[in-house]
Amino acid sequence: MSGPNNEYDPVQVTPLNAEEVAAARDAALAAVEAAADLEQLKQARLDHAGDRSPLALANREIGALPPQARKEAGQRVGQARGAINQALKARQEVLEAAHEEQMLVVETVDVTLPVDRHPRGARHPLTTGAERIADVFVAMGWEVAEGPVIEAEWLNFDALNLGPDHPARTMQDTFWTSPAENHVVLRTHTSPVQARSMLTRTPPIYVVCPGRVFRTDEYDATHSPMFHQVEGLAIDEGITMAHLKGTLDHFATAMFGEGITTRFRPSYFPFTEPSAEVDLVCFVCRGTAVNEDGDTCRTCRGEGWIEWGGCGVVNPRVLVACGVDPERYTGFAFGMGIDRTLMFRHGVEDLRGFFEGDVRFTTAFGTEI
Ligand code: PHE
Repeated sequence: MSGPNNEYDPVQVTPLNAEEVAAARDAALAAVEAAADLEQLKQARLDHAGDRSPLALANREIGALPPQARKEAGQRVGQARGAINQALKARQEVLEAAHEEQMLVVETVDVTLPVDRHPRGARHPLTTGAERIADVFVAMGWEVAEGPVIEAEWLNFDALNLGPDHPARTMQDTFWTSPAENHVVLRTHTSPVQARSMLTRTPPIYVVCPGRVFRTDEYDATHSPMFHQVEGLAIDEGITMAHLKGTLDHFATAMFGEGITTRFRPSYFPFTEPSAEVDLVCFVCRGTAVNEDGDTCRTCRGEGWIEWGGCGVVNPRVLVACGVDPERYTGFAFGMGIDRTLMFRHGVEDLRGFFEGDVRFTTAFGTEI
């Protein structure tokens, strides 16, 4: 344009001429429309409606214009900014709605999915097994007794008629604690709980004692230096071997089913006299020694019987050592392996499964909690 420039010519303030304002507005509207999410819209707002946007800068120039030009420019810029703000608001609403919609999809909870996807632990089969055994006796009015696994040598051996030089003492290879002069062992059987029960109670005494025992055995499929026994002790007037037999038959039936009874074979234990090994009718072949196909029964290896534990009438010497009058009272005692009992009850072939903590072994017994 030629001719003298007027000091207040609005045309000279380029950002304020109609095309520039329209261009800034259109660019802003296009950016708002193109914003695909709230983040992009935020950027568009900064670029086109922020303090440093072209129209905000243009707005600042308006004050320098002469009145008429100021009015026109003010309207022009004001309308453009209004249009942009409206577009921003409308777009904001659309994008917020879309965002919400999307969150509903993303955060959808499928209520049909299985709940509780953290596998639950199960109680150890030895714990539930010991409890089941104890229950059989508690139902008959017996008490559950416990004793320490680190035991006085005297209670583990001497009180039970296993004197220092008794040959039977070597039958149980013992873990001794040091120093040896303390005469403290890891108990080799649950029988010291018998002694403890007699020392702390007055007859009649009916106790069942499940617990851990220790022997210096190899660790293999059928041996472990730590295993579990359950001991039973009955002290009363007139107790005989017949009571023992009846009790064990009931125990066997309760654990293994109707028709599973026991037999006694003569044996020797220092703490019982007479003593017996107790066998169980094989609960798989039920004493026939053959399986359904006529082959040798694998569970009892063709014996028809399974060795279960030891038992006998409490030796009067033990009664005396434990403060029970042998003239008035007699008693019976029995002891068997809990691990072994569970092994043949559940067909477990390797004892080590009980001790190695593999949850697949444990859960096979059921996830009772
Ligand atoms: N304590 C014996 C053992 O560990 C078992 C037993 C208990 C035998 C009670 C007779 C009476 O082998």
